[in-house]
Amino acid sequence: MFRAKRVMPFLFQDWFLGENHCMHATFAGKRIVVGVTGSIAAFKVAGWVSALAREEARVAVIMTESAARFVAPLTFAALSGERVHPSLFAEEDAETIPHIQLAREADLVVIAPATAHTIARLAHGLADDLLACTVLATRAPVLVCPAMNAQMYGHPSVQENIEKLKKFGYQVLIPECGRMACREEGAGRLPEWEPAREVMLRILAVPDLAGEKILITAGPTREPLDPARFLSNRSSGKMGYSLARTARRRGADVTLISGPTVLACPPDVCCVRVETAAEMGEAVLARCHGASVIVKAAAVSDFRPVARSAEKVKKEQADLHLPLEQTIDILKELGQMKKEAGFLLVGFAAESRDHAAEGERKLKVKNLDLIAINDIGSANTGFEADTNQVTLLDHDGVISLPLVSKERTADLIWDHVVMMLKKKGATAESVGRSR
Ligand SMILES: Cc1cc2nc3c(=O)[nH]c(=O)nc-3n(C[C@H](O)[C@H](O)[C@H](O)COP(=O)(O)O)c2cc1C
Repeated sequence: MFRAKRVMPFLFQDWFLGENHCMHATFAGKRIVVGVTGSIAAFKVAGWVSALAREEARVAVIMTESAARFVAPLTFAALSGERVHPSLFAEEDAETIPHIQLAREADLVVIAPATAHTIARLAHGLADDLLACTVLATRAPVLVCPAMNAQMYGHPSVQENIEKLKKFGYQVLIPECGRMACREEGAGRLPEWEPAREVMLRILAVPDLAGEKILITAGPTREPLDPARFLSNRSSGKMGYSLARTARRRGADVTLISGPTVLACPPDVCCVRVETAAEMGEAVLARCHGASVIVKAAAVSDFRPVARSAEKVKKEQADLHLPLEQTIDILKELGQMKKEAGFLLVGFAAESRDHAAEGERKLKVKNLDLIAINDIGSANTGFEADTNQVTLLDHDGVISLPLVSKERTADLIWDHVVMMLKKKGATAESVGRSR
């Protein structure tokens, strides 16, 4: 019999409401102060502000006088839904003292693009406009995103100023290399929104997985028939990659073992690429010792062709019967060594029917601590979709997570894992005390 839904120890409803009570990083409800300075890259930051507003951040834009010569304040006002703060001495803001108000409200101050001029001003503690005063007055984290011509960026004076900012505890988003508006190649280009978003979310995240070594598998495996053909499945890897990205954001040391996907390795994650179930088994078993959590989100092929032809099989000669054999059951192997190795083991089950019964069976048979059950029968869950609706099952009960993005699903799974790790730690401590 499947067990009843238990009472959640945290505010389960908030997940549905999209509010900001969970531990994971999100922009929802965060006050982000964006300081735009006079670089040609200011137009790119209009896209950042739009994306932040879409992710429900409360964005306040401060523009320097030079920035307003590149992009009209009206653009940022329309995108952020707030009036752009024009100057330190604006009469209409006099009673609120805007630099103090913004500095206090901010969860994060982002200076993007940051010109050589503003970097120098900040490095020397100047307080000559609204942006510089806000940065001096805030206790919030500050992210500086330099953007300028490569020669300017490489100048010792700019580099020295950037080092100074780092010493103040400001984070610096390293500019990209490439062709710039001045038609020169080199380092100095403002990165795109995605890498900037990742850095911002990492700054905002609670590092509740710091100190954990986490091994994650993702994607499908391919079992070759001949040099041109293989058996595989529809896994895109999106769920496993989201788990890796969010765990890293929350401070974990993450290794991702991935079957073939089109996805890029998440920043600061150690990625190991494999192709077959046997290769994935070898990679996982070689790295599982020392891990504190292992999450098997990969869709590993259960079967492979008994024989692999060295040459492409011709249409005329093909034997229409394909003898198959079972591949290694990596999850089961891990389940058997779990107690001795001491890791927490999380499995995924992709099911098209009898989800609950199948999940409960796998939890027991494979000796898992937690299983995430995916419904692959619907278009917006499971394989290839950007969203997911997962049911978590552990030895205490079952929790249905809402239909949300895979990134959010990953964070909700980590919330649960963090709780399990705390419980495990507390149990180990009390056993130690009673000895
Ligand atoms: C067309 C043009 C593009 C510029 N692009 C940049 C740039 O990308 N980075 C930079 O540091 N300065 C750039 N500058 C120079 C700055 O606008 C100038 O140093 C200004 O004083 C910066 O003021 P602020 O930092 O207060 O916004 C550019 C100037 C012009 C005319």
